[in-house]
Amino acid sequence: MTPDTKVSQELSVPPPPQKKKWVSRVLRPVVLFLVLFIWGILQFSQESFTLKKPHKGHYKSSPKDEPFKWENITPEKQLVYHPCFDEYQCARLEVPMDWNRTDGQGATVAVAVIRLPAKVPVTDLRYGGPILLNPGGPSGSGVSLALKRGKMLQDIVDFEESPESPAPQSEDAKYFDIVSFDPRGVNNTTPSFSCFANPEDRIAWKHETIADGNIVSSDIAFDILWARGQALGETCTNPGLFDTDESEWLGRFMNTPAVIADMVELIERHGEWREKETKKLLKKSYAHKLPRTEKKKVLEKNSWKRGEEQLLYWGFSYGTVIGATFAALQPNRVHRLVVDGVVDSYDYYAGNWLTNLQDSDGALNTFFEDCHEAGPESCPFASDDLQDLKDRFQGVLEDLRSNPLPVSASKSRGPEIITYSDIHILVFTSLYSPAAVFPLVAQIFTDLSQRNGSSAADFKADLRKGNVASKHSDEVQSSVLCTDGGDYRGMNKSEYREYWKALEDQGHFTGDDWAALRLSCPSWNIRPAWAFNARLKCRMDFPVLKFYIKIQRA
Ligand SMILES: *[C@@H]1O[C@H](CO)[C@@H](O)[C@H](O)[C@H]1NC(C)=O
Ligand SMILES: *[C@@H]1O[C@H](CO)[C@@H](O)[C@H](O)[C@H]1NC(C)=O
Ligand SMILES: *[C@@H]1O[C@H](CO)[C@@H](O)[C@H](O)[C@H]1NC(C)=O
Ligand SMILES: *[C@@H]1O[C@H](CO)[C@@H](O)[C@H](O)[C@H]1NC(C)=O
Repeated sequence: MTPDTKVSQELSVPPPPQKKKWVSRVLRPVVLFLVLFIWGILQFSQESFTLKKPHKGHYKSSPKDEPFKWENITPEKQLVYHPCFDEYQCARLEVPMDWNRTDGQGATVAVAVIRLPAKVPVTDLRYGGPILLNPGGPSGSGVSLALKRGKMLQDIVDFEESPESPAPQSEDAKYFDIVSFDPRGVNNTTPSFSCFANPEDRIAWKHETIADGNIVSSDIAFDILWARGQALGETCTNPGLFDTDESEWLGRFMNTPAVIADMVELIERHGEWREKETKKLLKKSYAHKLPRTEKKKVLEKNSWKRGEEQLLYWGFSYGTVIGATFAALQPNRVHRLVVDGVVDSYDYYAGNWLTNLQDSDGALNTFFEDCHEAGPESCPFASDDLQDLKDRFQGVLEDLRSNPLPVSASKSRGPEIITYSDIHILVFTSLYSPAAVFPLVAQIFTDLSQRNGSSAADFKADLRKGNVASKHSDEVQSSVLCTDGGDYRGMNKSEYREYWKALEDQGHFTGDDWAALRLSCPSWNIRPAWAFNARLKCRMDFPVLKFYIKIQRA
């Protein structure tokens, strides 16, 4: 395989000229394939964070060298940004837990919002507004995405030349804010959603789950996982256990429609903030010696369009479900929307997850073919014969099934054993990010074929570290996807087994790991307060630009 895969594109429908600009510019480098569906599995390293009760006052100022803390920001109904993470700004937006409650009382959610400011101030006519991001999941952290990729994404959507460039700029040169947020239950948004009495219990549970292996690792693996799904589902849907007011318990209010309502609030509050910020900056006459007509134009452009603020959005993977749902519920608020790594939303809302894996065997085939073509110099697992390569691949897996490989400790990790399940998960992971992980697959399989497990043990140890460190994502993910999806309460074990087999038929390598994602849904004993039951079909004010990429192997 070659790392410098070429990407070509076909635009099937030419967009209208005046609106095409940023959509096509956004889409061009879709190479940065950020499929983060099963976020928990793929997070290699995560930071831990403790959230305490917010302090009084806007922001509890701290000595300069003390790192930024979300809990020092007091949640507010308006967007109030505070400096954070170097050039970013952070806010905690207070929204009702239950958007359908009309008395204004009730519990609230503090949504963690992060903004990478545009390269121009809001008073610059080239200011394009905020582009909201979602990384997928469910349960991916938008704050984390903005921190890791915000700059790159901003460079993609912004006008090529810097705002200071002396060259004449085109009329529609625009510079955007990158804004993201942690959805309900996720990372820095509070309250958090937890199904464990304390962090130690969650860590123990995760270690045991990893040790049990995936669904195909043994004859009893499915039975064990089924029991785990039941224990988790029953626990996570028992609000009484956590001593909360059952009517206002987060578990009933964290599905996608509630997140859409939060996003509407976020763009409305951005409009309010933009107007205020504009007036503030225009008062500073030294900063803006604008002619009066220009000033008027800016004020008009930036005035808060109450109830009509528009969405600019870029969502990846499950974030495309968010995009589609937003468009269905709020078609008139969509200005531009990019769905990238598209999930079949009909299938998602049916709760089936039956349309995600169809090409995954083909993806694994590209590993065999590319490795073979590249030859042993770039792909150590290569050989003269393609079939031989495939056979050796199977041979490594079959060998591990009956002979797990002991690996002694290294300076950076403890002793490990490499099982069939571990390598199955490696291959599954690689199908998510082939360009990044295929070289590692080649290395690990080469080593394993010589019964050398040190590279596999390094991989396993890293993966476990990330998995165990992620504090809530599994529970949040189950909650969102079980409450978004159809009602699977009461589905029995043999029916679930059938479902697993159906997935396995679709993707030999992916079906087994995929089947585990919904295991707690049959025992998820609550339904959301507000389920999505609108039609996904909708009309928006601009045409849909379909975009395909063809990966060409060099
Ligand atoms: C809840 O409120 C939203 C608007 O905020 C509305 O679209 C939805 O139908 C309401 N749901 C219920 C169950 O009342
Ligand atoms: C949670 O947010 C922090 C920033 O506040 C970030 O550093 C961290 O990576 C995020 N965690 C996850 C699991 O995404
Ligand atoms: C095992 O493989 C690694 C490369 O992944 C190599 O550095 C190491 O020397 C090998 N160990 C043995 C005993 O061959
Ligand atoms: C599971 O459910 C199916 C369909 O309702 C039913 O036919 C079957 O007997 C059930 N199996 C068990 C073991 O309860």
